[in-house]
Amino acid sequence: MSAKIISGVEIAKAIREELTVVVTELKDKHNVVPGLVTILVGENPASVSYVTAKSKTAKALGIYSEQVDLPADTSEEKLLALIDQYNNDEKINGILVQLPLPKHINEAKVLYAIDPNKDVDGFHPVNVGKMVLGEQCFLPCTPHGILEMLERSGVETSGKEVVVLGRSNIVGKPIANLMLQKRPSGNATVTLCHTRTKDTDFHTRRADIIIAAVGVPNLVKANQVKDGVVIIDVGVNRIGMSESGKAILAGDVDFNEVKEKASFITPVPGGVGPMTITMLMKNTVQAAKQAAGLI
Ligand code: GUN
Repeated sequence: MSAKIISGVEIAKAIREELTVVVTELKDKHNVVPGLVTILVGENPASVSYVTAKSKTAKALGIYSEQVDLPADTSEEKLLALIDQYNNDEKINGILVQLPLPKHINEAKVLYAIDPNKDVDGFHPVNVGKMVLGEQCFLPCTPHGILEMLERSGVETSGKEVVVLGRSNIVGKPIANLMLQKRPSGNATVTLCHTRTKDTDFHTRRADIIIAAVGVPNLVKANQVKDGVVIIDVGVNRIGMSESGKAILAGDVDFNEVKEKASFITPVPGGVGPMTITMLMKNTVQAAKQAAGLI
């Protein structure tokens, strides 16, 4: 058996088309233009390409976009002042500070400074708390994208054994929490494995759905999964450079091996990546609607 490929490119395109209709309607009926600012500190090549893609996608959808690129030695104080400025800027509905931040900046302090109503990343503790309680909030973009991919691909999650690999605040912890909730793409029995898990293979071999978010290229092999498993590969690992200077990417799952055993699998690139950016746009539109009192 060879797996059905879940194309993040295609699903993201469909969601973006839906969003374009909403953005046009907001402008025509309510004179509301959603606004997003992306803030990057330093020049980490992966971060530069993510932030550029985020602003480009925003503009393509008719979302007002500002991109602030700051030098790596920017002080925490200066960054906090900039966030305060955007918290009070009515043109801006969403504030995204690209992570990771340079070591001299306290990440938590920065994330806590963002107005929770403009926290389109869903990283502020108010939004994290609401997410855990199953209340309306901004969902973090990558987990949100995974839920959409599962739902739109018709993958049943209710009562299934889901194994999440990796306990990051951005992916592992939130996706594990969301999938155990009573919600679409939820109602699963969830196990979260991490670096101190005693026997990760025991868990992956019994998993109906594996969500890999560890940042180790090709870590999950065919002999560690069961027939018919559903694979969501969040890893974006740079494993080399092509002759034309483009990064060569690999996921956390050995795609070539595992696709022969899986029923569904996401590729890298073209899987979860495009979904993350699209869900950021969805959150920005939601923030604009909320600010205008439309929801
Ligand atoms: N770094 C890696 N993923 C993300 C994300 O989803 N949002 C932000 N702000 N930074 C990231």
